[in-house]
Amino acid sequence: MLWRRSSTRGAARRTLRVSFPRDADVYGLGEAAGPLRRNGRRLTLWNADHYAYDESTPSLYQSHPWVLGVRPDGSAFGILWDSTCRSRVWCGPGVLSVRASDADFAVYTLDAPSPRMVMEQLATLIGRPPLPPLWALGFHQSRYSYYPESEVRRIADEMRTRRIPCDALWLDIHYMRGNRSFTFDPDRFPDPAALIAHLHGRSLRTVVMIDPGLKVDPDYHAYASGVEHGAFVRDHTGREYRGEVWPGACAFPDYASAAVRSWWGDLYQPLISLGIDGFWNDMNEPAIFDGPGRTMPESNIHLADPEIGGPTTHARIHNIYGTLMVRATREGVSRHRPDRRAFVLTRANFLGGHRYAATWTGDNSSTWEHLAWSITMALNLGLSGQAMSGPDIGGFEGNASGTLFARWMGIGAMLPFCRAHTDVWTREHEPWSWGPAVEATCRRAILRRYRLLPFWYTLFHEASTTGVPPVRPLWFLDPCDPSLRGANDAFMLGEALMVRCRVEESGECRSPMPRGTWRPLELVECHDPDLPELWLRAGSILPVGPSLQHTGERPLDRLWLHVALDREGRASGELYEDAGEGHAHEAGAFRLTRFDARLAGDTVTIRSTHLGGQLERPHRTIDVHVHTDQGVHTATQADAESISIRLR
Ligand code: GLC
Repeated sequence: MLWRRSSTRGAARRTLRVSFPRDADVYGLGEAAGPLRRNGRRLTLWNADHYAYDESTPSLYQSHPWVLGVRPDGSAFGILWDSTCRSRVWCGPGVLSVRASDADFAVYTLDAPSPRMVMEQLATLIGRPPLPPLWALGFHQSRYSYYPESEVRRIADEMRTRRIPCDALWLDIHYMRGNRSFTFDPDRFPDPAALIAHLHGRSLRTVVMIDPGLKVDPDYHAYASGVEHGAFVRDHTGREYRGEVWPGACAFPDYASAAVRSWWGDLYQPLISLGIDGFWNDMNEPAIFDGPGRTMPESNIHLADPEIGGPTTHARIHNIYGTLMVRATREGVSRHRPDRRAFVLTRANFLGGHRYAATWTGDNSSTWEHLAWSITMALNLGLSGQAMSGPDIGGFEGNASGTLFARWMGIGAMLPFCRAHTDVWTREHEPWSWGPAVEATCRRAILRRYRLLPFWYTLFHEASTTGVPPVRPLWFLDPCDPSLRGANDAFMLGEALMVRCRVEESGECRSPMPRGTWRPLELVECHDPDLPELWLRAGSILPVGPSLQHTGERPLDRLWLHVALDREGRASGELYEDAGEGHAHEAGAFRLTRFDARLAGDTVTIRSTHLGGQLERPHRTIDVHVHTDQGVHTATQADAESISIRLR
């Protein structure tokens, strides 16, 4: 590792160069469009609002000063440079070069026999993701914006009558009074409590947007109380800084101060009382239309707490502004609704911010390229600690064709955060907007996701205890196979399920098949060529649930175990279960079960072992499906410690 300090016109800088084997592949660096491998890539870590970005965009909404490398022998290393300042990164041949506008920062280098172990080490430095509430793993429908409230009710009715499984509807800025966060427009949404209760009656949650910029308006409660609390960022002369966002001139909370975070968190209390379930923090790079580089001046002053290094300029806070905002949001929401798990979605973030919020990949476009990048972006975010991410399904900017939307739903349903969203200008972008064929594909795509919920939830539990992301590149499974290193259009859910995608209108999946035996799997009534192929890895047992319209429809009273035996006639898998909400699981109210299958003669016996938690074994039916060369053998039995099935 090589360090060089330099000083240009008074500003301290530091150049960091870390060498690694030239034949290593590098990943991570958080959010950037393009292929999975980062070799040769140049990026600038400086959180930026970039509408309709592409591969050449140097900075997106998030900064992750972290690179994960994999050597040809499958061993792995990680490099984390702990600077929040702007840094220019180049992943050159055999060298990582970082030019940071920062004189002094720590660098951590990690080394381990496998990428998985490096991810576990990373989690000890930056924390593990919290277990989301189960409903957040369902399908979410959004647009900029559903209004007035009759339109929200219409979308809810369409979801339910058309039997498109869905857990949440999202309200973008038009619900607010003149784009003021923490308000409702009295004409468009005269009775928000009644609307939210209506949606709850249809088993739909409500998530609302909250932007950081508060309109400068002394009659607006959030702004007025911010002034009273001295809560706003100041310019270099000490005056309240103002910049233009959706509502017009705004002031911006200084989340670097604990007192401000606490004030901000309290602003959520009335929304929580209305029954709002989740919060969407946007524009928190912060995006400012008339600011330099569309953000605030770097000379602005933050009264940061000693924990963050004391009062400082925006140059040092910029990349963590969004993280500090969602920390304030999450802490406030948890304080005011302690019995439930907070669900926050953020656009801006920094390495480690996954502890506070899930994320989406911002303002993508309705193009095939962006569909492809949905996969590589979610994978690299996962390899940077952010377990829960996903794209705007269908694309934000522009109109999707029916085929593009259907394919996107198929793939989006296999990514950790599954939400359709679109811009204010676009045509209708709901699953039924292109007619019955696209609607049927979307329904199947989402039903697949709901059937996989027991597995998704188990993977999120694993992420919350190990830091290993639910969605992983193919090479994660077999890091010694060089042919998998550039697989951009196929990925793994955990170790059991491979998802192979068609990301071009008329192409096939280009990623190679990993070594070993794989069994094709279908979870809905018929094969649909617009859905990605699912393949079960030999040696695994996949837990699958019933078809649902929403996550709370029924408990896991029927469980399907899809078993693919390996060459030795063995397979295994795990299932994590808890209430799906609240915190009782932290005190032991969960059940972790391991299933082990073994073939003896012509009989497969599946034994379940209770690995942890105090919940009793539920009364339920188990459907065993053993996938073999000869086909699928099935048996149905009551859940018991041991289940046997004869392969005939
Ligand atoms: C930003 C967000 C987008 C949202 C819009 C209006 O562009 O990225 O998701 O719909 O603002 O709030």
